[in-house]
Amino acid sequence: MEKVGAFDLAAGVGGKMEKNAVLSAVEKYENYHVHHEGAEEERKANYEDMVNKYYDLVTSFYEFGWGECFHFANRFKGESLRESFKRYEHFIALQLGLKRGQKVLDVGCGVGGPLREIARFSLASITGVTNNEYQIARMKELNRIAGVDKTCDFVTADFMKMPFPENSFDAVYAIEATCHAPNAYGIYSEIYRVLKRGQCFAAYEWCMTDSFDPKNEEHQRIKAEIEIGDGLPNIRSTGQCIEALKKAGFEVLWSEDFAASSPLPWYSPLDKNYFSLSGFRATALGRFFTRNMLKVLEFVGLAPKGSLRVQNFLERAAEGLVEGGRREIFTPMFFFLARKPLPQNQ
Ligand SMILES: C[S@@+](CC[C@H](N)C(=O)[O-])C[C@H]1O[C@@H](n2cnc3c(N)ncnc32)[C@H](O)[C@@H]1O
Repeated sequence: MEKVGAFDLAAGVGGKMEKNAVLSAVEKYENYHVHHEGAEEERKANYEDMVNKYYDLVTSFYEFGWGECFHFANRFKGESLRESFKRYEHFIALQLGLKRGQKVLDVGCGVGGPLREIARFSLASITGVTNNEYQIARMKELNRIAGVDKTCDFVTADFMKMPFPENSFDAVYAIEATCHAPNAYGIYSEIYRVLKRGQCFAAYEWCMTDSFDPKNEEHQRIKAEIEIGDGLPNIRSTGQCIEALKKAGFEVLWSEDFAASSPLPWYSPLDKNYFSLSGFRATALGRFFTRNMLKVLEFVGLAPKGSLRVQNFLERAAEGLVEGGRREIFTPMFFFLARKPLPQNQ
């Protein structure tokens, strides 16, 4: 794993955009959201712009504070955070039965942390899709360093309209990515189209649980905090996801919220009471140091103007995620395994 330092963080803020455009991108991004009077319809209509701005702004923060895998994991006692991430990724490979020679699609691949791990674990050939140019550049470099660049590749595309013929892939997975889609049916039917018949799609989905009460203002505040902090148009319920999968044509083989059975809470690394030396940067104290370091870097011109504001909305995201997790109204790990049926006569 490549170690990302403070200067890499500062240099990466804004991704491929001009550094003097960062502050206005932060403003435009924030204005999409409820806390800034933004409307859900506006976020859905402009999902590509909204999500891309978000990842241009935050990708280097994610790599600095969290690592190459941009997801959470359920966690067992005695397991380190890193071990839990790997096991969580291997679980997807196991459920899909991945093997050498198979052609697999990773929808919303980030900088490819899970893709590299799953490729090495299963020996399958994996194609990653993201619409973020900066992430693609990072992935190219990291795949080369990890030595998976001969068997894995990547495509810059909107996952709502992917440049692949139908029935192309032996398996498809998505880790905490399809939540960015403006509607669940749209993304699941696109995945259905590119998956071969009889083959499976597995995902970890971000969802509001059955304990979420849309009439409860506190619940709505937490939901809006997660949406602004994580670049989401609207967090769907677990029921809406299952309904959309079935409507797209999938047969749902298994669905389960792994947050409900996780021995250690998935959100604990972000919690104020948690401390870890190995995962220090993600802790509340680590985030405090990052904020102060950015203040200095932005002041002396080494980090673009607007960097601190990015750190601020990420802080709010962390608080919203911890509150949503603690109240069990939100989960980032609603797992499902779904199959594209064979034609009736086979
Ligand atoms: C939370 S990250 C997860 C990344 C990766 N699965 C991981 O676990 O490390 C979500 C990913 O979805 C991608 N994404 C969001 N909306 C997208 C879209 N419309 N088309 C393609 N990729 C998209 C983002 O660029 C990002 O790479």
